Amino acid sequence: MRRLLPTPAELDDDGLVDAYRLPEGPALRVNFVTSLDGSIAVDGKSAGLGSPGDKRVFRVLRALADVVLVGHGTAAAEGYRAVAPDSPVGRLRTSLGRPATVPIAVVSRRAALDPTSGLVTDAVSPTLLVTCAAADAGRRRALAEAGVEVLVCGDDDVDLPAAVAALTERGLAQVTCEGGPQLLHAALAAGIVDELDLTIAPALVGAPERLLDAVLPAPARLALRQLLEEDGVLFARYDVAPGAR
Ligand SMILES: NC(=O)c1ccc[n+]([C@@H]2O[C@H](COP(=O)([O-])OP(=O)(O)OC[C@H]3O[C@@H](n4cnc5c(N)ncnc54)[C@H](OP(=O)(O)O)[C@@H]3O)[C@@H](O)[C@H]2O)c1
Repeated sequence: MRRLLPTPAELDDDGLVDAYRLPEGPALRVNFVTSLDGSIAVDGKSAGLGSPGDKRVFRVLRALADVVLVGHGTAAAEGYRAVAPDSPVGRLRTSLGRPATVPIAVVSRRAALDPTSGLVTDAVSPTLLVTCAAADAGRRRALAEAGVEVLVCGDDDVDLPAAVAALTERGLAQVTCEGGPQLLHAALAAGIVDELDLTIAPALVGAPERLLDAVLPAPARLALRQLLEEDGVLFARYDVAPGAR
């Protein structure tokens, strides 16, 4: 992996971790892999756009996070599982002196998370559900009984700023959001995104799944802070301009 911006350098594994470190304090970064035409999936999954470098960046962002935030659509489509201590992410976290596991927080208006799924039953750091008061009370109760920490944020819809505040209150201040497009749209519209970490795969796909699923209330303005490259794949780190927050 080599850094092109701000200063050219070859990056080893430690250098890659340093390239994505955040200063202390609350922050929400969003991580996506996209093709050149803005497609985010091949046959409904992001793996078709992946590369060894993208996997390493994905792991680093999970290793540096206090919590991984994800929409229920992505968790279901990508077959999300809890992070295990002996997984590559768990081992990287341990080597960085961090707790081996990181909790996953699933955003679902309908509280549609399956209480019998591995995401719930195998979690060492309990999985969280971010939902709203309108979600079925029985489903919320069943998930809480299964060990899920249920955060009710908002009445008819999920109040994302309230959700981020609730995570911060629990000591989960540095959030890596892994999408998908509906959640990214809502997070940008709510003004809670600080950073976009975008892997740009040199491919054209034309898939229906795009980075954003609808027009934003106003275009978000981003500033390029860092650009890495490996095997023709670009890894951009953008700050979301304060005016867009
Ligand atoms: N290339 C990449 O990096 C990448 C990253 C992520 C996803 N993807 C792809 O994106 C596709 C999934 O897209 P998607 O639009 O379904 O993703 P999504 O945003 O993860 O999921 C949408 C669902 O999540 C819940 N949700 C999202 N935002 C919400 C909000 N603000 N408030 C309340 N609930 C919210 C809702 O669940 P309920 O219906 O349960 O209420 C909604 O139906 C898959 O093909 C996946 O592979 C690609």
